[in-house]
Amino acid sequence: MFFKIGNIKIHIEKDYNAMSARAADIFTEAAVKNPSGAYGFATGSTPIGMYNVLVEKYKEGALDFSQLSTFNLDEYYPIKSDNDQCYRCFMEQRLFNLVNLNKSNINLLNGETGDTSRECSAYEEKIHLAGGIVLQILGIGTNGHIGFNEPGDYFSGATGVVNLTKNTIDDNARFFENRDQVPRKALSMGIRTIMSSKEILLLASGKNKSQIISDTLFGRITPQVPASILQVHRHVRVVLDEAAAEGINNRLLT
Ligand code: PGA
Repeated sequence: MFFKIGNIKIHIEKDYNAMSARAADIFTEAAVKNPSGAYGFATGSTPIGMYNVLVEKYKEGALDFSQLSTFNLDEYYPIKSDNDQCYRCFMEQRLFNLVNLNKSNINLLNGETGDTSRECSAYEEKIHLAGGIVLQILGIGTNGHIGFNEPGDYFSGATGVVNLTKNTIDDNARFFENRDQVPRKALSMGIRTIMSSKEILLLASGKNKSQIISDTLFGRITPQVPASILQVHRHVRVVLDEAAAEGINNRLLT
């Protein structure tokens, strides 16, 4: 199913695999049109299926990463680069080592930096020099965060250091041996950085995302739901599976 709410184009697919395939098609279309653009990637469990499909498309010759550059949304801070929960490791295992990306075109925030402010401003500069992000992929936290921009009193600006909320630490504890090992901070593209992307592709899957998806699309635009700012971006697509779309259906029916 496809429809629009305001400027936002919504695709609802049957299940996680169909959501992943749709998202991979949207990415591929963009990458074929602009093979040397800068693309923003996200981590988390949601985009894994899409990355699997992108790897398949690459193997079939339908996708060429050789000229692309990549910018990841965020990274835990501090985290050692040999910690297998670091987002660089995640991206290498799921995508970067499996396709023909040029290593020098891969950009991630460094979770080991001793100078976070320099690291973050250099990242902004690199995005700028790459011509800006043409398509940013986003997941969404159950609290509405995008990147690691947590609910708060204002929308963040540029890339910077953020404190993770209890909600996010709880959600992400499943990836670590225990909750105490989840870093308490992260480096994240800011909301302004994300909103500067020419196009945005937000993915969500599963019933536990249905309430926040509904709040994001229909609710008040508020920093308490960081993703709600996407309502004012001109080129956003949201790809959901049916479970994540349940809250939308309820709203449309009432
Ligand atoms: P998830 O995380 O894909 O693991 O649900 C999404 C996010 O926190 O942005």
